[in-house]
Amino acid sequence: MSDNVFDSVAAAIGNTPLVRLNRLTEGIAATVYLKLEYLNPLGSVKDRAALAMIEAAEAAGELRPGGTVVEATSGNTGIALAAIAAARGYRAVVVVPDKSSAEKLALLRAYGVEVHVTPGGRPREHPEFVRNVAQRLAAEIPGAWYAGQYDNPANPAAHRRTTGPEIWRQTRGRVTHFVAGVGTGGTVTGTGEYLKEVSGGAVRVIGADPEASVYGGGDGRAWYIESIGHYLHPDTAADEWPLSYRPAIVDRLERVPDHESLTVVRRLAREEGLLAGGSTGTAVAAALRVARDLSEDDVVVAIAPDSGRNYLSKYFDDDWLTRLGFAPALTPAEPVVADLVTTAEVRVIGSATSAARARELLGEATALPVTVQRNGSGSPVVAEILGSVTPARLAAAPGDDPVSAHLDPPLPVIGATETIAAAAARIGDHRGPVVVAHDGSISALLDAAALKGTV
Ligand SMILES: Cc1ncc(COP(=O)(O)O)c(C=O)c1O
Repeated sequence: MSDNVFDSVAAAIGNTPLVRLNRLTEGIAATVYLKLEYLNPLGSVKDRAALAMIEAAEAAGELRPGGTVVEATSGNTGIALAAIAAARGYRAVVVVPDKSSAEKLALLRAYGVEVHVTPGGRPREHPEFVRNVAQRLAAEIPGAWYAGQYDNPANPAAHRRTTGPEIWRQTRGRVTHFVAGVGTGGTVTGTGEYLKEVSGGAVRVIGADPEASVYGGGDGRAWYIESIGHYLHPDTAADEWPLSYRPAIVDRLERVPDHESLTVVRRLAREEGLLAGGSTGTAVAAALRVARDLSEDDVVVAIAPDSGRNYLSKYFDDDWLTRLGFAPALTPAEPVVADLVTTAEVRVIGSATSAARARELLGEATALPVTVQRNGSGSPVVAEILGSVTPARLAAAPGDDPVSAHLDPPLPVIGATETIAAAAARIGDHRGPVVVAHDGSISALLDAAALKGTV
């Protein structure tokens, strides 16, 4: 229908605006546009895939009147499925990992969804792995249909049919580079395929990936930008990539560290007036890297999958940023935690370490953090801390047991750039070691007494 009038919320999905970046691109000759997918009626790029998957299931007779939509999702797909299900009279059940933001969970519940929260960071074979829980529920609930965005061909097809043609039309065929974060891969694959075809192969497709993600060659350890990248738990026997992602379509993958994504996404809000989510920070960081080497004839289009409103308690919260060591010192004149760190040695214990070996590693220490077992180099990520070990608990443990069976609660985490006074206040009356975080990773351990003694 014309004049922006629609028969249903689903019909209003798509045709999102392209907005040119003007200040972040200072010194860059190429034009960089951001496609504001967060202006879709259900709030994200996932509106497109959710609608396409539901329509395909209806057409195939897999989803019938009175049926239940089931999905495993970090949030946005669930939100879009929930809203479309509500409008069409279906029930919705969504399984989310516990690292999803509180805002996303609240949104799901607002649409009347039955939300199941399952622990994140489980290997693929584990019964609590998000997708296994969703598939089990779908098998148990009569009339249930499992959307399965990771492997559902309707997901990339939605972008091939809508996102790609929109960008081509909006740029009047001038687009030369397309940049998108890769989660299920649906956006980059479908849009990329269309743009390559229509341009006779001229458009370059760039995937934006968290530095630790397996897609770009990282070891799969955790990171802090939600909904993109491919995590790999070290206990995973066979890693499988989603069928929605066809890596061959990507000409270049930019690996973006979390701190860069966070800096860019905050600059987008403060310098462009665009409040977008963390994965937009990753995509724009990649777009700016690419655009730096281009000419004024080039047109780069990056995707902004969702809004920063989903992450006000994370990426836009100074306390969150500071605690994880992502923020620069807020009050540069005051001494910060990093000033107290005297050794570059990071002492952590891997979860598979035997209790006997852990006793040796503990030595004189009163506690040490235990993290997901990773054999490669690189700093352990705060998000992979499972708990801590203490001599008292270990003394009673059989020597062959893994320490993961004898965990105490995690040690407090303070940020390297927090003022010493703020960090001391954060840990309260905790005694013994605390974890110092820099850019989301464990950079040191510090004794609480050292922190308090200097306040
Ligand atoms: C915020 C956000 N960014 C990026 C993506 C990645 O998109 P895709 O799954 O199409 O690769 C998603 C997907 O859920 C998302 O929710």
